Formats: sequence, structure tokens, C-alpha cells
Amino acid sequence: MDFGLSDEQLALQETARRFAQGEIAPIAAKYDESGEFPREVIKQAWELGLSSTCIGEAYGGVGLSVLDSCLITEELAWGCSGITTSIMCNDLGLMPIAIAGSDAQKEHWLSACARDFKMISFCLSEPEAGSDVAGLQLLAEKDGDDYVLNGTKAWITNGGVADLYTVFATLDRASRHKGLCAFIVPSDTPGITPGKKEDKMGQRASDTRVIHFDNVRIPADQRLGQEGEGFKVAMRTLDRTRPPIGALATGIARRALEESVAYAKERKAFGFPIAGFQAVQFMLADMAKDTEAARLLTLQSAWAVDQGLRASKLSSFAKCTATDTAMKVTTDAVQVFGGNGYTKEYPVEKLMRDAKLMQIYEGTNQIQRLVIARELLKE
Ligand code: CAA
Repeated sequence: MDFGLSDEQLALQETARRFAQGEIAPIAAKYDESGEFPREVIKQAWELGLSSTCIGEAYGGVGLSVLDSCLITEELAWGCSGITTSIMCNDLGLMPIAIAGSDAQKEHWLSACARDFKMISFCLSEPEAGSDVAGLQLLAEKDGDDYVLNGTKAWITNGGVADLYTVFATLDRASRHKGLCAFIVPSDTPGITPGKKEDKMGQRASDTRVIHFDNVRIPADQRLGQEGEGFKVAMRTLDRTRPPIGALATGIARRALEESVAYAKERKAFGFPIAGFQAVQFMLADMAKDTEAARLLTLQSAWAVDQGLRASKLSSFAKCTATDTAMKVTTDAVQVFGGNGYTKEYPVEKLMRDAKLMQIYEGTNQIQRLVIARELLKE
């Protein structure tokens, strides 16, 4: 067992750290306030090789391992998790192509996304099917060599700004998971209409929308894998993308811890810095140990994915533990800051709002516990 990072990994981490400090953190509050989409900074991240990182070198990409992508995600999320969600969602959207695409599809679509800056979305959730993937309703009807898609997706990250979607649809609703199929869908395909941007509590820089599909015609060569394989493509994707969600949450928690330590040394009560009081010290100690534990579990799950192991349980451990940790640590950070923490003048209220989403997206933490329990009982 080796907990050290290679020189390449340290350099990658340093690149992400500098980018987060220099380009993301300074604009985080502005985009949180306005809810605008920070396209330019995301493009800069892509130019540095920090976005769409799952595209292999054979297709012109950087081909990072899941562990490497976790290292950079924690750094970026330290700067702003809303902006980082937009950056990382490109990998979520591309992962089904990397996992299930034919050589020709990879050559065409992954190369295009490595050559030019593109935003990508993963269109799985629906208004009536968030946790229950097998119950999704968006219908794909066969028409000659094409498929015609009709229905609505919801909570789609990058929904209004994406150039490309990976869309999960059902060929037969009664067949539940056995009827699902995945498609590669350029966002300018006729019949696609994004709804209005959701006015979210946190991660406000990320663009989240409903997407309507109205007779959207997709040629068969844009189908990913075989008919009926869509559910497993989605699950295999999430196994790979939940460790980076753990890293995103770890980045939020680390930022909250650092802000709290600095504040506790400055802020005085009863004539002394509050860092001198055991009540505050114990909170800081818990924040530090829980953040470290979240990081270790995240990196272990990423390592397992990179070894080619089926990592559903570990990925759910990481996603669930790290995001619950981010929620707890950011809530405690607001407590350490007291009344100041509850105002927008200080950075921790944003961290707390941002952390809440982490317990919900990429599978609620209730779903993570369900995955863990099922794997446990199967063993
Ligand atoms: N890998 C491969 N195959 C898998 C698998 C995995 N991880 N998990 C399940 N399967 C297989 C099963 O073995 C089974 O196969 P057979 O038919 O051959 O027996 C089949 O898939 C069906 O599995 P289940 O019976 O377990 O399916 P289920 O309907 O009970 O649902 C679930 C399982 C875990 C609840 C699943 O629906 C789930 O993960 N839901 C959460 C969805 C989610 O995470 N959504 C996030 C959206 S993305 C997002 O939020 C991104 C963003 O905005 C940033």
C-alpha cells in the first residue's frame, strides 16, 4: 500500500490548485449571486486539461484515471463547487460513450470533444423518475433506421449550455430496466427545447434545467450499446463518477475547515481568540478528521474503479460519506463563524448551501445506502 502520489499526480494537483486559487475562487461569489453561467472559466479549465478528462489519449484527450480526476476535482471544488460541477459534468456526460461506445462512435464523438471545447450533459433524471431509473418514461420509438424520442428530462446539469447530451430512454416502459437504451444526441437536433434555468439554493453557477424532447429523430448509429443495455450503462457510469463526487464534497469540506481555522484564530470572545476554547477546538478537530476520512474513502474507491474492480459499494461509501461530511463540516463552519457565518459577507454560508446539493445529486444518499445494503446482503 502506498499513500504517496507520483510526480505527475503532484503536478496535476498543483495545476488544479493554482487554477482554483487564481481563476475560480475570486469569481465564485459573483456567479453565486448572479446565477450566470461562467463559460469562460470552464473553457480555460478545459484548455488546461482539467475538464473532459476521461477522453483517452487515442482520441486526443488527456485520459486521466478516476483517481487523478478526484485529485483535481477536490482542488477545483475548494474554489467553487458550482463551477466545478459544470466542469466535471462533462465527464459524466462523456462516460457512457467511453464505456459503451463503439470504436467508430468514440473516434467521432470523443475526438470532437477533445479537439474543440464542448459542454456535455448526462440526461437520466426525469420529473417522475429521479431515484427510480428503471421507471423513466422518455420514449424511444423505432422508425426505420431511426429512433424518435419523446418526453422530458429534469435536473439536467449543463442542460441549457450543452453541445452534446447522452440521453437515456425506454423502448418499452413495461420492461423497466430491460427496456432502457442510451443515445448520443447533439443539442441542436430539431425538437429539443431546454426549459428555464432552475433558481437553486446552492451551486448557483451550474446550469440546471428541464429538457423537452419532442419527436427528436436519432439515427441508429447514435445508439450506445445494444437495445436494453441502457440501464447497465447508466449504473456503470455512476460507479465511475461517484468517487469524483466524493472528491467534490471533500473540496467543499476542506475549504470550510480552512476558513474556520483562520477565523477561529482571529475572532475574539471573552478577550481571547475563540480558537483557544475547547468547544471550538473539538469542532475543528472533528471537521479535520472527517474531511480526511472522506478523502481516503474517495481515493480508495477511485483506485478500485481504476483497477477494473466492480466498485459499486465503495463508490457509494465514498459518495455518501464525503457528501454527508461536507454537509456536517459546512454546518459546523457556520457555527464557528456565529452570526457572521449566517451572512453573505463571509464565505461559509455559500459552502453550506452548496454542500446540500451533494447529498441529493448523482443518487441521493438514501439510494447510496440502498446500493450498499444490497451489496452487503448479496455477499
Ligand atoms: N453495474 C452493472 N450492472 C448493474 C449495476 C452496476 N453498478 N447495478 C445494477 N446492475 C444490474 C443488476 O445486476 C440487474 O441486472 P440483471 O437484470 O441482469 O439481473 C439490473 O442492473 C437491475 O438492477 P436492480 O435490480 O438493482 O435495479 P433497480 O431498479 O432496483 O435500481 C438503483 C437500482 C440503485 C435504485 C438505481 O435505479 C439507481 O442507482 N438510482 C439512482 C439514480 C441516480 O443516481 N441518478 C443520478 C442522476 S445523475 C446526476 O444527478 C448528475 C448531476 O446532476 C450532476
